Amino acid sequence: MPSLRTAKKRRYLVCSPEYFDVRYSINPWMTSREPVDVPLAHKQWDTLVSLYRELGHTVETVDPVADLPDMVFAANSALVLDGKAFGAQFHAPERQPEAGHYRTWFEAAGFETYIPSHTCEGEGDFTPVGGFILAGTGFRTLPSAHHEAQEFFGRPTVSLHLVDAHFYHLDTALFALDDTNIAYYPEAFSAGSQKVLKALFPDALVCTREDALVFGLNSLSDGRHVVMAQEATGLMEKVAALGYEPVPVDLSEFRKAGGGAKCCTQELRP
Ligand code: ARG
Repeated sequence: MPSLRTAKKRRYLVCSPEYFDVRYSINPWMTSREPVDVPLAHKQWDTLVSLYRELGHTVETVDPVADLPDMVFAANSALVLDGKAFGAQFHAPERQPEAGHYRTWFEAAGFETYIPSHTCEGEGDFTPVGGFILAGTGFRTLPSAHHEAQEFFGRPTVSLHLVDAHFYHLDTALFALDDTNIAYYPEAFSAGSQKVLKALFPDALVCTREDALVFGLNSLSDGRHVVMAQEATGLMEKVAALGYEPVPVDLSEFRKAGGGAKCCTQELRP
């Protein structure tokens, strides 16, 4: 059956995993003692980037910086919307220097760039859907940064409370399938936030804990293709049943740092 969905070309920013490793622990995924297979991580990342290009998307790169092993997670560097970049203010001291390197890139690329005064981790905790912005808090980004984002973009921002440390960023618990619908794992959110999501997205695709724990929700949709963790087989079937085309990727090495496909990818929205 042909897909019912239409893809829209995207522009992505990524950062090579040249210095990627797990050298400190700032989320529950980073506590496992399993070492990162560095050559495999590089291969997995190269495959992800080639895949984006095969799907017709534009991929740009920011130079990685030594001693910033999490800089590969480009999604945390900003929220880019309406051609403007709302930068990051990282929670963990280990990641704080990343913000300036990314800011330099956004400015050089011609984006109006805002430096937030409150802790916020870019698309890790901000997901634009339709005309508004879903915004996570609880572990990293502060609600005060949600207000700053709302003022900067002039778009309504909906604060959602994350309650399970395994899903410390919004993009580990929810992603936008297109401009009108999302997929999410309800139990990652407080009771009040679950009600909000149910009211806003009555037809949302609900993900199981099992699929969420393999980062099935750390996915990117172009409106038709959904690049997602290959282990999230249940979610993949549900995505396909709605007429999207799942595109499985293996990012096992990045999961050891608490990241997946979405974390590695910053979307530059015009
Ligand atoms: N180790 C990184 C951290 O804890 C992983 C970031 C994952 N990024 C994301 N968008 N969820 O900050």
